[in-house]
Amino acid sequence: MTDWTPPDWTPSDYLAFADHRLRPALDLLARVPLERPAHVVDLGCGTGTLTRHARTRWPDAAILGVDASPAMLARARAESAPDIAWAEADIATWTPPREARPDVLLSNAALHWLGDHDRLFPRLLSLLAPGGVLAVQMPRNFDRPSHALVKTVAADGPWADRFADLIARPAPVDPPDAYAARLLAAGAADLALWETDYQQILPGGPETIADVTRSTTLRPWLARLEDDPTKRDAFLAAYRARVAAAYTALPDGRTLFPFRRLFLIATRPDA
Ligand SMILES: C[S@@+](CC[C@H](N)C(=O)[O-])C[C@H]1O[C@@H](n2cnc3c(N)ncnc32)[C@H](O)[C@@H]1O
Repeated sequence: MTDWTPPDWTPSDYLAFADHRLRPALDLLARVPLERPAHVVDLGCGTGTLTRHARTRWPDAAILGVDASPAMLARARAESAPDIAWAEADIATWTPPREARPDVLLSNAALHWLGDHDRLFPRLLSLLAPGGVLAVQMPRNFDRPSHALVKTVAADGPWADRFADLIARPAPVDPPDAYAARLLAAGAADLALWETDYQQILPGGPETIADVTRSTTLRPWLARLEDDPTKRDAFLAAYRARVAAAYTALPDGRTLFPFRRLFLIATRPDA
């Protein structure tokens, strides 16, 4: 885990843009090159959307969803498909039983919440069964206005002293070559990396982007001001105004919100 854990997730807020969030998850799943894995684990499964799609793709596999959030897991359990197991655990320390080493480790939009990718990625590769596949998608939009403006606004207001450490943090996802180097050094037998820049169309004007980031990227920032709702609301309003000014509405009033995501598929060598 990172050194500071924000309050729990809000599943309904996260699911408000479910279609936009699902597409990269399905693109990831489609590229896993195994037809009949015995054990599949979805790390950072959240409400279990991808986990249920994994069940559809691999009807015979034992499938486990792992997440640290009780609220997200409660939602996953409530909507559970048959025969999916769920476990509350921190990905940084979660270890599969020896007799059930995963053939597929999926992780969609979760590993950017964990630090120390130098250790994390080789560790995840080492947890796989021989010939197993690590399949990961992470956002890499941190230099775009939707994300960069969080730090700009945080540094420029009566709340700045509350954010010094968060502002100083580097982007949580490195460029693709860093992951290639880590995974090849850890012995990946096969490796595919790619980025997709999703040209998402949001239903409202540019300020709608703040509704997307509020339930994810902004969570740790808003939580810092939880004890001062007036300041928290002012921070959110300032961010919303800056984001609205940085993007342009389409002719029909909706908004194009480009969002870049990094994908990687790494295979552990056969024994
Ligand atoms: C953006 S959601 C993605 C959920 C799901 N994978 C999806 O694609 O809809 C990120 C999830 O990662 C989980 N998460 C973040 N850090 C974690 C950690 N260290 N251990 C376990 N789960 C973690 C959060 O609780 C959250 O449910």
